[in-house]
Amino acid sequence: MRESESRYSNLSILLHWTIAALLIANVLVGGWMEDAEGPDKLGWFATHKSLGITIFVLTLVRLGWRITHPWPVLPPHMAGWERLLARGTHILFYLALLAIPLLGWAAASAGGAPTTDWFGLFPIGNLPLPRSENLGDALGGAHKLLVKAAYVLIGLHVLGAIKHQFLNRDGVLHRMLPIIPTPRD
Ligand code: HEM
Ligand code: HEM
Repeated sequence: MRESESRYSNLSILLHWTIAALLIANVLVGGWMEDAEGPDKLGWFATHKSLGITIFVLTLVRLGWRITHPWPVLPPHMAGWERLLARGTHILFYLALLAIPLLGWAAASAGGAPTTDWFGLFPIGNLPLPRSENLGDALGGAHKLLVKAAYVLIGLHVLGAIKHQFLNRDGVLHRMLPIIPTPRD
């Protein structure tokens, strides 16, 4: 259970791909929620909130793990600006994965959204915020803006992964996705 230069730990790999899948799922659910009408809207909202809070909690676990288990070193061929871009993107991901759900939850709370259940299991109420439509709208706007910023991060991150796999041909993709072999010359 430790990070190594050739492979991330099983926990890091599990959290990375689970959070990535939940994030994409919640972007889809967020869109369906906005488009839905009537009682369906509340159902989509409950799912959106449950998925979002799951992402938040898993990110806290991941952050705890990362603070106690440092990242494996980046390959020596990487230039200073590449290291900065790679690590900067990773750090901004951590911040976005905490701020996006919190802002969404705050927006719903200020807007006076009803209490919903975490996947039907236990209730999740609202954050203690004053009820105000203006505050709710502002927080909702910030929530959606940060989701757009996350799309930019995902774009940079995936381009980086493709560059490592096909141009640098190092084992960076393999160490996060071990089913993909390290390219051989
Ligand atoms: C990482 C987790 C989350 C992601 C990726 C995400 C994504 C999104 C997206 C893409 C939309 C906009 C849909 C559109 O405009 O078509 C949205 C809206 C919204 N989300 Fe989230 N969300 C997350 C977590 C949460 C959480 C935990 C809550 C808490 C209840 C929440 C509450 C809302 C609300 C209230 C809106 C509507 C905002 C408005 O229209 O002003 N979100 N979300
Ligand atoms: C879509 C949501 C995604 C998020 C939020 C995300 C986030 C992260 C973060 C924070 C790290 C740093 C390592 C850690 O602390 O665990 C990381 C590493 C990594 N990610 Fe992602 N990722 C996503 C999607 C992807 C995708 C689609 C790919 C592949 C195409 C990918 C490939 C990698 C690789 C190869 C690493 C290892 C980098 C290294 O060795 O330092 N990620 N990712």
